[in-house]
Amino acid sequence: MTMSTIFTWYGHATIGLDCGGIALVVDPFFSRNPAATVKPQEVHADYLLITHGHGDHVGDALEIARRTGATVIANAEISGWFSGKGVKTHAQHIGGGFRYPFGYLKLTQALHGSALPDGSNGGNPAGFLLTTNAGEKIYLAGDTGLFGDMRLIGEEGLDLAAVPIGDNYTMGPDDALRAVKLLQPKVVIPIHYNTFPLIQQDVQAWKKRVEAETETRVEALNPGGTFALGA
Ligand code: NI
Ligand code: MN
Repeated sequence: MTMSTIFTWYGHATIGLDCGGIALVVDPFFSRNPAATVKPQEVHADYLLITHGHGDHVGDALEIARRTGATVIANAEISGWFSGKGVKTHAQHIGGGFRYPFGYLKLTQALHGSALPDGSNGGNPAGFLLTTNAGEKIYLAGDTGLFGDMRLIGEEGLDLAAVPIGDNYTMGPDDALRAVKLLQPKVVIPIHYNTFPLIQQDVQAWKKRVEAETETRVEALNPGGTFALGA
C-alpha cells in the first residue's frame, strides 16, 4: 500500500509535503519568515519546489540545496539561476508535467511577478499541480490573483488545494472564496497570510464563509501544523 501524503504549513507560503518518505519543500522561506517555527538548518529536503523568484519564496533554498543536495524544481529561468550556483535542478515550464519518484508534477499559471532577489529574470510565476503515486491531486496555487481558468484545474478533481488569502500581494479572502468555488477541492488550506501586518486576515471568518457557501472543508493550520491526506 502507498502511504498517504503529509502536508505541513511552515507559515507564509512555505509548505512541506512528505510523499511516502520523499521530502518536498515548497518556497522554503524560514530564516526571515517571522511565522516559521523551524530553522533552515533543521529542514530535510529531497526536492525544493520554487513557485517564483520573490525573496519570500526563494528564501533559504540555496543554503538548503547546498546542505542537503536537494534538487530544485522551478521554471527554466529560476532553474538556470540555481544551476549557475552549482545546485541540482530540474527545469519545467507552465503546462508541462514530469513524472518524479514522488509523483507527476505539472506547472500551472499564476498571475503575479517573479524577479529573483538579485534582479535576475525569474520567468513567469507558477503554481504546482501534483498527482501523488497514491493518486491524490494537490494544487498549490502559488502567489496569484484570481483567474477563471482555475475552473480547468478544478476539473482534475482536487483532493487538496493551498491558496493565498492575504490580500495586497495576492488574492484576498473574497477572491480566494471565488477560487474555491472554481477549484472545488475536497479540502483547502489557506496560506500567505498573517506573516506581516500587511497581510493580516481573520482565517476563522474565512473558514466559516467557505464552509457555508461551498462543499469544501477548510483546514486552517497553525505554522508547523500538519494535515494528512486520506486520513
Ligand atoms: Ni511573490
Ligand atoms: Mn509572496
